[in-house]
Amino acid sequence: MSVYGPEDVRKVTTHRLFEMKERGEKISMLTAYDYTMASIVDQAGIDVILVGDSASNVMAGNVTTLPITLDQMIYHGKSVVRGVKRALVVVDMPFGTYQGNSKEALSSAIRIMKETHADCIKLEGGAEVIESVQRILCAGIPIMGHLGLMPQSINKYGTYNVRAKDEDEARKLINDAKLLEEAGCFALVLEKIPAMLAKKVASELRIPVIGIGAGRYVDGQVLVLHDMLGMTQGFSPRFLRRYADLNTIMSDAVKHYINDVKSLDFPNDEEQY
Ligand code: KIV
Repeated sequence: MSVYGPEDVRKVTTHRLFEMKERGEKISMLTAYDYTMASIVDQAGIDVILVGDSASNVMAGNVTTLPITLDQMIYHGKSVVRGVKRALVVVDMPFGTYQGNSKEALSSAIRIMKETHADCIKLEGGAEVIESVQRILCAGIPIMGHLGLMPQSINKYGTYNVRAKDEDEARKLINDAKLLEEAGCFALVLEKIPAMLAKKVASELRIPVIGIGAGRYVDGQVLVLHDMLGMTQGFSPRFLRRYADLNTIMSDAVKHYINDVKSLDFPNDEEQY
């Protein structure tokens, strides 16, 4: 059953997110990487679906987000868009496709928009990537920024620990957030930073700020779908609330099936032609 109300089937736009912030309505966002999961999440009424480069970990089993390619992100983006009627669909720009120079950044963003039919893109970084941000925005492609813990920079940080705990890094994060807003980004993800810093950023920006491990004083929340459904194992940061234990449910179903096949219980008379 869908939770769509009669007027809720209206497509979520970047403008609607802005209005949600203005009236204090929290924004819900989850990742999805394929058609089936995206349609379940969309029909449940999520506001934003992120085709995250976390697909590199969740879908492909890589240790980091770095190896995923533009072609692979486009494949995931296309699959998700086919399953979505209402949610705003954001596709992550993968590592190496926008940091080099702004021309290359624009052609990567154009490929994502043309080939996936998604609504917008997300990229990581502030001042370091501002030329790319400006050039992509000039082409009319909406951008969601991403600051705080930026998984594409894991080799620089060395850990996935909480970011911006010291004053210098916190100051840079605030400056970067303002820079992205001034450039014209429509929203910002803040990952794994102190709640009070996220609160300050959300209150100083007019664009919506969506947190992951950034506390409750922001304009919305995002989680990785496979984590919140309890499908992934061995990843339990403090910010992760698990809403189901699909790993156990799926594993039990598979064991049940194996047992039925081996014991000749499946298929029965009604399950054959
Ligand atoms: O790729 C991703 O899933 C993300 C979220 C963690 C925000 O960027």
